[in-house]
Amino acid sequence: MAREKTSFVCSECGGSSPKWLGKCPHCGAWNTLIESVAETAAPAKNRFAALAPSARLQPLAAIEATEVARTPTGHEELDRVLGGGMVAGAVVLIGGDPGIGKSTLLLQALDALQRGGLKTLYVTGEESGAQVALRARRLGIEGSQVAVLAETSLESILATLEAERPAVAVIDSIQTVYSEQLSSAPGSVAQVRECAAHLTRFAKASGAAGGAPGGTAIVLVGHVTKEGALAGPRVLEHMVDTVLYFEGDTHSSFRLVRAIKNRFGAVNEIGVFAMTERGLRGVSNPSAIFLSQHAEPVAGSCVMVTLEGTRPLLVEIQALVDSGGPSPRRLSVGLERDRLAMLLAVLHRHAGVACADQDVFVNAVGGVRISEPAADLAVMLAITSSLRGKPLPKGFLAFGEVGLAGEVRPAPRGQERLREAAKLGFSVAVVPKANAPKRREAAFEGLTIHPVERVDEAMALMRTLG
Ligand code: TYD
Ligand code: MG
Repeated sequence: MAREKTSFVCSECGGSSPKWLGKCPHCGAWNTLIESVAETAAPAKNRFAALAPSARLQPLAAIEATEVARTPTGHEELDRVLGGGMVAGAVVLIGGDPGIGKSTLLLQALDALQRGGLKTLYVTGEESGAQVALRARRLGIEGSQVAVLAETSLESILATLEAERPAVAVIDSIQTVYSEQLSSAPGSVAQVRECAAHLTRFAKASGAAGGAPGGTAIVLVGHVTKEGALAGPRVLEHMVDTVLYFEGDTHSSFRLVRAIKNRFGAVNEIGVFAMTERGLRGVSNPSAIFLSQHAEPVAGSCVMVTLEGTRPLLVEIQALVDSGGPSPRRLSVGLERDRLAMLLAVLHRHAGVACADQDVFVNAVGGVRISEPAADLAVMLAITSSLRGKPLPKGFLAFGEVGLAGEVRPAPRGQERLREAAKLGFSVAVVPKANAPKRREAAFEGLTIHPVERVDEAMALMRTLG
């Protein structure tokens, strides 16, 4: 195919240059020029005058609000994060570390959809057909009718999609796909963006053009960089309808799939899976899987209830405070490091707990990532417990956001969190005052609740309880 003219466009200011430069000649930003297919040049003035205006102008009231049609994937936990199932014509981006289970989950889902009578296509750019077949055998679905295409050329993939019009197509992975129109290497920002844009356009157009009823849903698999972002680009996140992330520790068997963005469902919804010998299995009652098992309470450990999406999860926060060198280290796994620095400052200023000369490590057990500030209080209690070398009482938990002024702010839907903790047999809870049940009869059986308004109150309470 003849190569179209390309130019290099600055991702900061939008200025273009005919060749690659380290520094944008327009805005002076470094390393921002990205190759893209040049638009056919037309005289800028009156460029659109000759075109007929779009006839599709309608008042909002005249447009019928149609419910999107969803097709369950046969995996309840996956459907949960998708908002009920695959939406025809939608584009889903699924990211995660290598080896976490993206290909496994999608192959399982495609097989279930195919069995349900839908036409499916699995495009593999990372593995050969034989490797996919080997995986299928391991999953016990070797008789599967899922169509497999080992291909990395965007043009060939689009031609196949056009000819086959599957209901669901998986592109594993978007980083291996390249367009012949660009000279950049596969996996580069320019290629990833261009290929994703074409595939997205195909998905959107497929519904309108007929073919499979409702069009083709496309799932793009994306790799994650060391920093934890989807390689190439946030631009992908803007383009697609749904962004899912795989989380979890590859050394443990549990995996979380979280919806970061969803035009067809709730964000922050999570699906929980366990990696077994025969693929991923949904875990329908996951609330207690992120607790490590201590026979007796240990110092530096505090359990919290996180509520992301619709399900409460109990997660153990661990802290280790140890005498550090001249420049003490602060390290966090699964929690934000900047937030940790802030909490240490609040702890010092408002509760008199000083860790300035100490190394501080914190970890959310099980590879789960907690982004909600409701973890603050548990992080502080775990740090204090480690520093003092005194465990928190048995059956203890805490949650609540902590502000810079030392105040403890309520967490959303505190009652649901407390109910889950009571159900799992926890007996002592330190929570923000606004989250404590107002009336006695609303209390939870077996769970003593200590409401606090300030950080120093929580620390003082810890002394009397411990
Ligand atoms: P994979 O789906 O290839 O990960 P990704 O596509 O995200 O890179 O997952 C591979 C890992 O999962 C690998 O370490 C082997 C393990 N696995 C199982 O434990 N059980 C199975 O049934 C399968 C297919 C894989
Ligand atoms: Mg893979």
